[in-house]
Amino acid sequence: MSSDDAVVGTAPAAAAGEFALGGELVIHRMGFGAMQLPGPGVWGPPKDRARAVGVVRRAVELGVNHIDTSDYYGPYVANEIIREALHPYDDDLILVTKVGALRTPEKAWPAALKPEQLRRAVYDNLRGLGRDHLDVVNLRIVEEGGGLGPEDSIAEPFGALAELREQGLIRHLGVSNVTAGQLAEARGIAPVVCVQNEYNVLRRRDEDIVRTCAEAGIAFMPFFPLGTFTLQHEKDVATDTKVPQQVPLEAQAIHAVARRRGATPYQVALAWLLQHSANICCIPGTSSADHLEENVAAAALRLTEVDVKELDALHGGAA
Ligand SMILES: NC(=O)c1ccc[n+]([C@@H]2O[C@H](COP(=O)([O-])OP(=O)(O)OC[C@H]3O[C@@H](n4cnc5c(N)ncnc54)[C@H](OP(=O)(O)O)[C@@H]3O)[C@@H](O)[C@H]2O)c1
Repeated sequence: MSSDDAVVGTAPAAAAGEFALGGELVIHRMGFGAMQLPGPGVWGPPKDRARAVGVVRRAVELGVNHIDTSDYYGPYVANEIIREALHPYDDDLILVTKVGALRTPEKAWPAALKPEQLRRAVYDNLRGLGRDHLDVVNLRIVEEGGGLGPEDSIAEPFGALAELREQGLIRHLGVSNVTAGQLAEARGIAPVVCVQNEYNVLRRRDEDIVRTCAEAGIAFMPFFPLGTFTLQHEKDVATDTKVPQQVPLEAQAIHAVARRRGATPYQVALAWLLQHSANICCIPGTSSADHLEENVAAAALRLTEVDVKELDALHGGAA
């Protein structure tokens, strides 16, 4: 533990409150997503590695004790930057990683859901992060490249990770990009402590899953929480993969609430998530220290009932 222990309790990220993953790994509900740390397109090294390392260190200084990552960010780059920034890790730092895809030289993200591929990915994450076990591993369901669709069983890949958990390489399991049926199937195989699906103030297709998770004590960690990217778009024909498209989080109500609260629209989007359900934990991604400060400060932003009502009324991207 660092000498800043006394400060952590009052650190900005702590203002969002806590959630105990699996009833035991206590995280501040405002975390950090590492996907923006590598170079453009989540590929290769960042232009300024020292800056990326500084962003990760600053996140922890601000009280973030939960970082979401994956070995396929870069590939390898995000984990290497986290390790350079924070190893040896504080006891209270929770690293959540994910497996289920790989990167090709064309910068595509095909599925890698076969048991042997998952085993290799777990070992790659252990090596990349410099750990002897992983706190939480999410199984990311990927359709591209011969993967699994929403109607498919995830029993084989989730079962493979459950075996690695039994062997002590993984402490807890999560699932990502799943349907309600796939979540139920996974829970029948091994305990699930978190779900990571696309969700934000404008895109709430998974409202039922958020509720199911809340009832079961499972964390819901939305990806694209700022809505600046979306997977709802056409496929890249050349690589047969979905490439996230930049879609600004635009809605009059968000801007109106932001003006009233003296906050930014990004902070309003994060504060809405935190107030929407007590099991939602945020992992906004950024490569910028300024954006990081802004995002973490949203942990302390309290929306009024009127604000929430206006934001709740936004459905499916209606402005
Ligand atoms: N399981 C999955 O399939 C999956 C998929 C996608 C992501 N994830 C995880 O979820 C995390 C969050 O998703 P994400 O990073 O893709 O999307 P996001 O958090 O919704 O948005 C990130 C984008 O917003 C920009 N941004 C961040 N804070 C900002 C601010 N205060 N003002 C203006 N722009 C801001 C970032 O650019 P700058 O770098 O310039 O700030 C970046 O372009 C990822 O980091 C990753 O860990 C998981």
